[in-house]
Amino acid sequence: MRVSKYIAVLAGLGLAALAWTPAMAKSAAELEKEKALANPYPNDFGPDHLPADYVASLPPNMKKGYELLLTRCSQCHTSARPLNSRFVEPNVGFAMAPAARDQKEAAEVAKLKASHPEYFKEKGVWQIEAGVWARYVKRMLNKPGCGVAQGGHMTPPEAKQIYEFLVFDGSQRKLGANAAKWKAHREELINELKAKKPSRYKELAEDNDL
Ligand code: HEC
Repeated sequence: MRVSKYIAVLAGLGLAALAWTPAMAKSAAELEKEKALANPYPNDFGPDHLPADYVASLPPNMKKGYELLLTRCSQCHTSARPLNSRFVEPNVGFAMAPAARDQKEAAEVAKLKASHPEYFKEKGVWQIEAGVWARYVKRMLNKPGCGVAQGGHMTPPEAKQIYEFLVFDGSQRKLGANAAKWKAHREELINELKAKKPSRYKELAEDNDL
């Protein structure tokens, strides 16, 4: 092979490699989505939106949070994952510093433990914890391709609105007068995961993460 031809071939390969890399390599955001879809939760078998009459009953700022959730939290998994989650963070209001809110929420959890011990006996139905949604929304915001700082779309004020909706919605739909309905719903979802993805069911059950 003549040297010039050899160089031309190498140069061609170099260009091909350059053209190939951005098109074929998976971005961190795509990998995150693959991870989310490969590992289903019971939540994913439920509806990916809430009934229209319930949505119509929400205060305007909560409705906005719900609408943001539908777009911002459906990029890697569907919006069914947050909407059918067992997480409940007590709603003690939002006009206070995070530390004060944590304290109030912890006191509320203690009260619920005394008044409704049944909420704490079925981990797959309810996980009631101070700060649980704050932690999860932050965790999602920091994932590659989610929050604006990670190359995604969700801004911190949007994340806050989604968080407030999730807190508000939990007490409405999962506790009190709706507790029995919620329990039946979660049990159905868990059974569906068990029937359709037995190995994933087993994994989550062993991790206490159903
Ligand atoms: C960039 C991809 C991505 C986006 C966007 C995203 N998630 Fe997730 N989500 C995941 C992955 C991956 C998991 C699997 C568990 C983990 O990594 O935390 C997950 C798991 C979850 C779970 C299940 C946790 C459990 O243990 O039961 C909930 C609830 C959830 N996400 C809520 C949300 C909410 C709320 C939003 C929007 C604010 C959101 N997600 C946006 C990737 C994403």
